[in-house]
Amino acid sequence: MSRPSRLSRLSRLFVLVLLATLPACSKSEKKEAPIAAEKKPVVKKDLSPAEEAVKVFNGRCAVCHGQSGTGDGPGAAALKVKPRNYTSVEWQASVEDDYLKKIIVGGGASVGKDPGMAANPDLADKPEVLAEVVKKVRSFVDAAELEKARAAAKGGEAGAKADGEKAAEPEK
Ligand code: HEC
Repeated sequence: MSRPSRLSRLSRLFVLVLLATLPACSKSEKKEAPIAAEKKPVVKKDLSPAEEAVKVFNGRCAVCHGQSGTGDGPGAAALKVKPRNYTSVEWQASVEDDYLKKIIVGGGASVGKDPGMAANPDLADKPEVLAEVVKKVRSFVDAAELEKARAAAKGGEAGAKADGEKAAEPEK
């Protein structure tokens, strides 16, 4: 009497263990499926111009210009003419957006600068992305400071035309 009951208890235990592990298996399978399904559209989804510009900057420009924009990218060491330091307000004030677009698309050679500055001809067909890349370059300086420097570069004339705020400027 005692033998069969022990056996059946064992087999019941076995069945219980099986039952306990089965849902665990199917659960983990279920968990993976939606993740894989979620990932696909993210990769395929079209990026916004701003997102694409960030990708362009990180993937192409940062090699030389650096994530900091100061021209300290790993590729800069090998260049004879060093990449422009984007964080210079004076330089930013001295260049127009159209000029930046031209050198970004055509490279340094297109504007008489060093050919070490690479061309990005594909961006000519993507004006929105190109505009965002220019914004990215501009983002390394404070917009208000840039405006100030531009006004200063235009001389006292522009300063006089601007509103009363300019009265605070004489401090040097
Ligand atoms: C292979 C290295 C390299 C890459 C990649 C590169 N640049 Fe440059 N870039 C340079 C160098 C070198 C200069 C300086 C050229 C000069 O002063 O003659 C420069 C200059 C510039 C200038 C300043 C031009 C001026 O008149 O001072 C801008 C703006 C610029 N790069 C934007 C970009 C952007 C945006 C990207 C990415 C789409 C990029 N660069 C990718 C090397 C690079």
